[in-house]
Amino acid sequence: MSLKESILEERLPYHIGVIMDGNGRWAKQKGMIRAIGHENGTKAVRQTVEACAELGVKNLTLYAFSTENWKRPKLEVQTLMKLLVSSLKKEIKTLQDNNIKLSAIGSLHTLPKKVHKELFEVIEKTKDNARMTLTLALSYGSREELICAVKEISKKVKNNIISPENIDESIINEHLYTQNLPDVDLLIRTSGEQRISNFLLWQIAYAELFFTDVLWPDFTKEHLYEAIIEYQKRERRFGKTSEQLS
Ligand code: IPE
Ligand code: IPE
Ligand code: MG
Repeated sequence: MSLKESILEERLPYHIGVIMDGNGRWAKQKGMIRAIGHENGTKAVRQTVEACAELGVKNLTLYAFSTENWKRPKLEVQTLMKLLVSSLKKEIKTLQDNNIKLSAIGSLHTLPKKVHKELFEVIEKTKDNARMTLTLALSYGSREELICAVKEISKKVKNNIISPENIDESIINEHLYTQNLPDVDLLIRTSGEQRISNFLLWQIAYAELFFTDVLWPDFTKEHLYEAIIEYQKRERRFGKTSEQLS
């Protein structure tokens, strides 16, 4: 039986998040500049998006650029931004052919104008696609997201729109960039690093974590299947006992 065939359709993660890491090391291992690593990373993006759509995963969120990544050398940031524009231009057809809706989370107004424009064009063109939602986390930081949410909620409290005693999980959810997304079920990080790096801190509260040594540009559909198969072996207890679940 192939890896893909051993995936149980009825137990698919509803939302997969991916910290796509290791582009720089991939290039370095090959004696190439980091930009080549990022370029090759886009192939892994296509593989992952296609595989998720084919399997029937409803939500895929990819960590593409963090608020902290702005601190990288200017040239690398520029390369990443250029690559984003060209990938968006190139991938619109794949998104349309596969009925995938594009969305984005993060401090999007800080993106260069060109990126912002291209991004929102693709979001607009794909807004009625319903097979899967692909969300790009761009200039995204979970702490910043939480700060924005706290500010918004505080304003509403001040204006008597929300009363403090009514603040609950759903009110917090509604004020996050991810307001339209469910919690993450499976979080994958490539490249051997075992940390979260400011990604979806609130939303991964009960996610299953999967770390792999594979560097992002080498990540294929088969690697994704492996992660899902491992996920399906886990017992998600959400604080309960094993006996309560059966
Ligand atoms: C991930 O690869 C891409 C981004 C963070 C934008 P890296 O560029 O972090 O690659 P490594 O971690 O240096 O190998
Ligand atoms: C996390 O990777 C951000 C993205 C994948 C976009 P980094 O490479 O920036 O994370 P750290 O700095 O190693 O934690
Ligand atoms: Mg990295």
